[in-house]
Amino acid sequence: MSIIKSHDLAKSGHDKINWVKSYMPVLSAIEEEFKKTQPFAGKKIAMSIHLEAKTAYLATVLKAGGADVYSTGCNPLSTQDDVAAALTDYGVNVFAIHGADEETYVAHLTEALSCHPDIMIDDGGDFIELLHGKCRALGDKLIGGCEETTTGIHRLRQREAEGNLDYTMININDADCKHLFDNRYGTGQSTLDAIMHTTNLVVAGKKAVVAGYGWCGKGIARRLAGMGAVVIVTEIDPVKALEAVMDGFTVLPMDEAAPLGDLFITATGCKDVIVKRHFEKMKDGVLLANSGHFNVEINKDDLLSLSVKNEERKPSIEGFTMADGRILNLLADGRLVNLAAGNGHPAEIMDMSFALQAKCLEYLAKTPNLEHKLYSVPVETDKEVATMKLAKMGVSIDALTPEQAEYLFVE
Ligand SMILES: NC(=O)c1ccc[n+]([C@@H]2O[C@H](COP(=O)([O-])OP(=O)(O)OC[C@H]3O[C@@H](n4cnc5c(N)ncnc54)[C@H](O)[C@@H]3O)[C@@H](O)[C@H]2O)c1
Repeated sequence: MSIIKSHDLAKSGHDKINWVKSYMPVLSAIEEEFKKTQPFAGKKIAMSIHLEAKTAYLATVLKAGGADVYSTGCNPLSTQDDVAAALTDYGVNVFAIHGADEETYVAHLTEALSCHPDIMIDDGGDFIELLHGKCRALGDKLIGGCEETTTGIHRLRQREAEGNLDYTMININDADCKHLFDNRYGTGQSTLDAIMHTTNLVVAGKKAVVAGYGWCGKGIARRLAGMGAVVIVTEIDPVKALEAVMDGFTVLPMDEAAPLGDLFITATGCKDVIVKRHFEKMKDGVLLANSGHFNVEINKDDLLSLSVKNEERKPSIEGFTMADGRILNLLADGRLVNLAAGNGHPAEIMDMSFALQAKCLEYLAKTPNLEHKLYSVPVETDKEVATMKLAKMGVSIDALTPEQAEYLFVE
């Protein structure tokens, strides 16, 4: 059973899935292995993750490994209806429609959990919150799950600290083969890609303000600089701020950056990063985009309260006209712009993130009695994925001689 927009859209969804598949060789190798080993035979896997082509391919890999898969999105604007339609042809149960309102979005998550999953994938923590709340009864068979992103990890850490985490979770985000590549290069490239194709405006020469110099912010700032933007970074962490200074960027508080910027990109995972007093000082025509997980970084209510008019100027661009005539442009409704107004990360990057997911889900399937806590991805799994990726890229590296290993105390 599935809830999708329309199966008539499936053709382009299949094209998208087939395209990314041919650039995800590590996940393809794991798929071949899973076809033989069937690690998920008899198991139900529920997935709440941005429902686009790379994720759809991951769902088919899990299916090939014997799982019964129940897939939903983790943000109503990142769901691609054609991909959702195509995924049903693989025998995956899909519950997701692009642009669903909050109530429908939660109903879709609940539908996916209604299978009483053995294993789950979460992206941002919406599944885990439901499983601790009104969907608690649906988690009765759950061996554990994997969390994909920084914001979800924050929510899990908070639960763990409060002694309130009732499930086993694996922290995919903090594995090196995830955040070093996905958060940095993936978000860096795809955020700019989405902004450029949505606005059709130039990057070179713009003053771009990047809020947050974590893994995502670093990637975004570096790509902006590479394309000729003048980059200003805002931070709350002195170490990260210092790193941004040494990387050659101007660091300012948002209050000072607000009147200077032409383009603002938030990537903090925090709320109210850009609010009323900042909007009041901004230049006419500024672009406001968010790449953090939730649409809380740019305060849309403040924009609405200040504006005399708001209208769609182009798909995924809403213009807010201020009383003095300035227009501030919010992209993708303040939701993560690279997925809500773009195609998300490049396939080659998600190859590593989803190889980690696949390997950790396999580990959960084999290891049913783990504690209710947040586990790290084992270092060996990180190294295995990196080794596979290098091999697929045709890159060789050196190995320690026995004498070197002894010198470095490596076993
Ligand atoms: N768009 C995507 O595809 C994508 C991909 C990965 C992660 N994410 C999301 O992006 C967000 C950031 O992830 P990350 O991995 O870079 O996290 P991170 O923890 O590495 O970096 C966040 C940075 O923001 C800073 N910060 C926090 N509050 C701030 C504020 N009010 N003003 C300025 N700076 C502030 C922190 O000090 C930190 O340096 C999270 O919500 C994460 O889930 C999005």
